[in-house]
Amino acid sequence: MKAVVLGAAAGGGFPQWNSHAPACLRARRGDPAARPRTQAGLAVSRDGEHWFLLNAAPDLRQQIENTPVLHPRTGLRSSPIAGVVLCGADVDAIAGLLTLRERQAFVIYATAEVLRVLDLNPIFEVLARDVVERRAVPLERPLPLTTPTGENSGLTLELFPVPGKLPLYLESADRPPPIVLGEGTVGAAIREGTRCLYFIPGCAEMTPALASRLRGAELVFFDGTLWRDDEMIRADLGNKTGKRMGHMSLSGPDGTLAAFAPLGVQRKILIHINNSNPVLLDDSPERAQAEAAGWEVAWDGMEVTL
Ligand code: MLT
Ligand code: MN
Repeated sequence: MKAVVLGAAAGGGFPQWNSHAPACLRARRGDPAARPRTQAGLAVSRDGEHWFLLNAAPDLRQQIENTPVLHPRTGLRSSPIAGVVLCGADVDAIAGLLTLRERQAFVIYATAEVLRVLDLNPIFEVLARDVVERRAVPLERPLPLTTPTGENSGLTLELFPVPGKLPLYLESADRPPPIVLGEGTVGAAIREGTRCLYFIPGCAEMTPALASRLRGAELVFFDGTLWRDDEMIRADLGNKTGKRMGHMSLSGPDGTLAAFAPLGVQRKILIHINNSNPVLLDDSPERAQAEAAGWEVAWDGMEVTL
């Protein structure tokens, strides 16, 4: 199985269009230690012919152009993209679907709850239903990823619940949404035989069930949104904590580094990294600390073979 990181940053990207903060300035000025990153997404394939996207970020058009294996190879109209798996309905996970609206057949794989959000937003009808199938995936039931013509790709998909919250645009103004475990925020396990890749771009908390699922895993891409829960407040970039946004942070006793320390995961890669997170910077002490704990920081174009 091959995987290519299409985008490694969280919503907003790095640099974020309206950010004049020091790290974004470094990225915008071409500082090699502050490499720009688009919003989070991964492409996976068994055979190098048929590719499945994990999340469809608003940057998807640019990501496809930057990734030669995703370019058309035959005829006047074609695409190696056979399907798109959605791990939630946040803008940064679904807006890229609108880029794929040229009557090209592919399958959308998502939970019934995430598909309901698409169904309720008529703009997604640009993905003509006679061409683009919306396939509901029940939780914790592995199913084959197929091409639009029904051929087996050799990969299976399992979606499983992780703690998360409603998409920002569905929140009601009066109170913060609860962190829940259900069909709204999910992780994806992509398997080829016994090999397994996990993609978990958003997770509010490490639960015992998630810890036991990930114990000893070969490869995990995991939520790297924030370093500290209150880093956006401290940097005067916003008034929300990571917890409020549905993301656990990397540092601290309940943080991701501590939570993964006893799990024996063979390869751990941070993805969905916010532009406020110093781990993005190659020369930061936080980067050194994450690497010392065995983590890699994803970058756009990073390739991984399983
Ligand atoms: C998140 O990951 O917290 C969301 O993508 C935030 C957003 O909708 O911008
Ligand atoms: Mn996000």
